[in-house]
Parts: sequence; C-alpha cells; structure tokens
Amino acid sequence: MEQEALYRLSRSLQKWILEAAAYTRTQIKQPLTVSTKSGPNDLVTNVDCANQAFLAEKIKTAYPNAQLVGEEGAGEVPDDWQQGLTFFIDPIDGTMNFVKQRANFAIMIGVYEDGQPLFGIIYDVMADQLFWGGPQLGIFENEAALKNAVDEPLQEGLICVNTRMVVTNEAHLQEVLYQCSGVRIYGSAGITFAHLLKGQVQAYISKLAPWDIAAGRVLAETLGFQVLQFDGQSISMMRKEGMIIAPKQAIQEIVTIMNGSND
Ligand code: IPD
Ligand code: CA
Ligand code: CA
Ligand code: CA
Repeated sequence: MEQEALYRLSRSLQKWILEAAAYTRTQIKQPLTVSTKSGPNDLVTNVDCANQAFLAEKIKTAYPNAQLVGEEGAGEVPDDWQQGLTFFIDPIDGTMNFVKQRANFAIMIGVYEDGQPLFGIIYDVMADQLFWGGPQLGIFENEAALKNAVDEPLQEGLICVNTRMVVTNEAHLQEVLYQCSGVRIYGSAGITFAHLLKGQVQAYISKLAPWDIAAGRVLAETLGFQVLQFDGQSISMMRKEGMIIAPKQAIQEIVTIMNGSND
C-alpha cells in the first residue's frame, strides 16, 4: 500500500476505534445484555455486537473490496484471506473483564495486505491508551514511539499466560513458569499486548483466535518480538491455536521446554 493510503487507513481506524470506545464508555454504567457462547466463561454482550456492527460498517464502506473477519460477525477466516486487504476485528477483547470489572478490556483491529502484517491498533478503553502502527510506520503508544523488545534470557522476564493452560500444565507450561521471573494474568489478549509493547512483560503464552492475535502480532513483530506455535512453527491465522509471543532468546528457551521429553 502507498504511504499516503496507509496514513489514511491509520487515521480512519484510529477515529473509528475512538468512536466505538466513546460509545462503549456510555454503556459502562448501564445494564448489559450478556449471553454465553461455547460455555459459561465465553460471554458476548450487546456492546460487543454493537461495536462489531459499527466497525464492520465503517470498514466495508471505506474498503469495499477488503475481507472482514470479526469475532462477533462472520467469524470464519476465508481460505483466501492472504489475498488483498483483510481486517480482523475484535470488538471487545476481554469481555469477561468488561462484564465483571468494567475495565481492562480493549478494542482491536489488525490489517494484513496479501497475508503480510500492515497495521495494528489496540485501544485500552478505560485507560485511554492507544497502541498503533506497523512495519512502515513504527509503533506508538498514543503519540510516543515505542522501543524495540529487550532480548533477554527467560529468567529475566515476567510471563503472561492463560489460566487454563497453567492449571492443566499443558505442554510443560509450569516448567516454563518455574524458570521465569514471575507470572501475570490480565484476562485480555489486548491488555497483555499493551504490557508487552511497553516492555513490562517479556512473553505471552496462550491459545488465541485470529482476531485475538491479529493486531498484537503486527505491533509486536514490528518491535522485534516473534510469534510462534508451541512447536516453533509459524502461526496460521486460520484458527484458534497455541502460541508464544516473545523476543528471540526467551522464545527459543520456551519452545525447547514446551517440547521437552519429561512426560
Ligand atoms: C479472550 C481474551 C482472553 C484470552 C481468550 C480470548 P474475548 O478474548 O483475550 O484473555 O485468554 O483466549 O478469547 O473473547 O474476551 O474477546
Ligand atoms: Ca469472546
Ligand atoms: Ca478476544
Ligand atoms: Ca471479543
């Protein structure tokens, strides 16, 4: 994409996300309509659906040829998503936090061009922190440029995880956690990415759907983080899958431990 068109896309997505967030804040003290999806911990609210519809409409109007994947919309990733422009929308990431805490949730959009990361945006709605950018733009928190990831050994850093994976010790995860500086669980992929991008945590290990990872991947990879499956292979962006986000040294150590033979 030409630089001018990319600037336009960046400005538009920032504007639309801030509009969706302003609406979301108006709902913060209102009763929510909450439904379950796959189980009691998998929630969707009227605000998730309203944000999805609002963002999808804006994107479709401005980019009629683009493909759209949204958690609360047509959730399937098309087989040909790597052709042309594809927008991945998570209209509220951390719906459980939104429902229980009315804080610690994000709105996220990741944009890919011919399968390559183009632009990512994550907005921590209640903290009013906007993380945005891409390989051609640099990465920013509001207007401040963010620094590259610090490439340190596993034992020097904090790790974010998904609770279920720790409890079940999937893929030797507990062994990884014994070897790091400490564990943090934020309950939202977007909020976790905010901590990674600011350099406050070193790694994130979770099972994430395409809309959970799309924006964060663009931002994190641009700052030098790697995103790999537990076996060290590239992620597919086609389905929910286990993944590790960390700088080079730590990710190599994590992949080695997770594929260890101490079963
Ligand atoms: C969830 C959150 C959570 C992560 C789950 C996601 P949602 O997103 O990011 O932290 O562990 O895998 O599904 O459903 O609240 O948008
Ligand atoms: Ca969800
Ligand atoms: Ca999500
Ligand atoms: Ca969501």
